[in-house]
Amino acid sequence: MTLSEGGARDEVCPPLFLAPMAGVTNTVFRRICRGMGADVLTSEFVSAEGILHRNERTRRYVEFQESERPFGIQLFGADPERLAEATRALKDWVAPDFVDLNFGCPVNKVVCKNGGSSLLRDCPLLGRVAGAVVRAAGALPVTAKIRAGWDERSVNALETARVLESEGIARLAVHGRTRAQGYSGAADWTLIAEVAAAVSIPVIGNGDIRSGADALEKFRASGVAGLMIGRAAMSNPWIFPEIRAAFSGEPFAQPTPAARWALIQRHCAAEMAWRGDEVAAMKAMRSRLMAYTRGMPGGPRLRGRLARVESLSGLEALAASALSGWASAPDQG
Ligand SMILES: Cc1cc2nc3c(=O)[nH]c(=O)nc-3n(C[C@H](O)[C@H](O)[C@H](O)COP(=O)(O)O)c2cc1C
Repeated sequence: MTLSEGGARDEVCPPLFLAPMAGVTNTVFRRICRGMGADVLTSEFVSAEGILHRNERTRRYVEFQESERPFGIQLFGADPERLAEATRALKDWVAPDFVDLNFGCPVNKVVCKNGGSSLLRDCPLLGRVAGAVVRAAGALPVTAKIRAGWDERSVNALETARVLESEGIARLAVHGRTRAQGYSGAADWTLIAEVAAAVSIPVIGNGDIRSGADALEKFRASGVAGLMIGRAAMSNPWIFPEIRAAFSGEPFAQPTPAARWALIQRHCAAEMAWRGDEVAAMKAMRSRLMAYTRGMPGGPRLRGRLARVESLSGLEALAASALSGWASAPDQG
């Protein structure tokens, strides 16, 4: 076990948000993160049209358990009226605790239909979308998630934040990268701090929180009301207790390899129970297995075998051999 140094003494930990991640934050993974201490959970992004058609795929996107509350469903789209209708439909259909609007997705398929981050280039439309959804939601809070701007020449998070606040958005998550950056470069936490200072709604900072020390440093420097964690949680859900330990000043014991493998197996088993199909679940888990084992001893050989695993028993055997490999050669790989 490695112990990381605590950096504070009894500093109050702000609410920790699991970032919405398509193909990752389904009900199974969200509950794992809740068990680890994530305070607020959100679905992956769901299209307004999908909600209105109530197809099977969308049903799985919006499905959640009571233990996930407070839970929000993230919508994307560009048509204010369709998004408003989808919001009304969601209230009757699954009754989430909040609806979140996606104004950050960089994916072409979404952007070319004017959704996601594309709306950052059109503040009047972004405002109409937000206003229509807020009115349709009534007492249900509507939150939003933005990026810094479209590209480095049009960084406009302050402007979009003010528009969203004036339209009744209750809380705003800011990912400190532009759409053009995708996931490259570094998130701009100075900009996140400026947004937090410019509006009176709670601002949640997002981007590059990879450890308890990161969380503490970014929180102290930015004045945000909460922290949102994405990719780090994907490969290491223990990031949530690690952050809490950093705020309380306690040393944090990183999970042992055995604990990591136990979680991986538990995740796969829960995914299988949810999907009702072992092979489909294991295939769906492959990219997750890659994320979980990044940096683990065993290297490319282990990952090559994980990429072909089709059953829980196969995974168990791999885990056992990886663990016995560690016992005899802990520094390998
Ligand atoms: C695989 C993946 C899927 C994502 N899907 C969504 C999404 O559906 N909605 C959204 O608002 N952001 C999405 N994001 C962005 C994350 O929510 C987050 O803003 C981003 O990863 C930066 O945070 P991080 O540095 O903690 O990962 C996605 C990111 C990744 C890596």
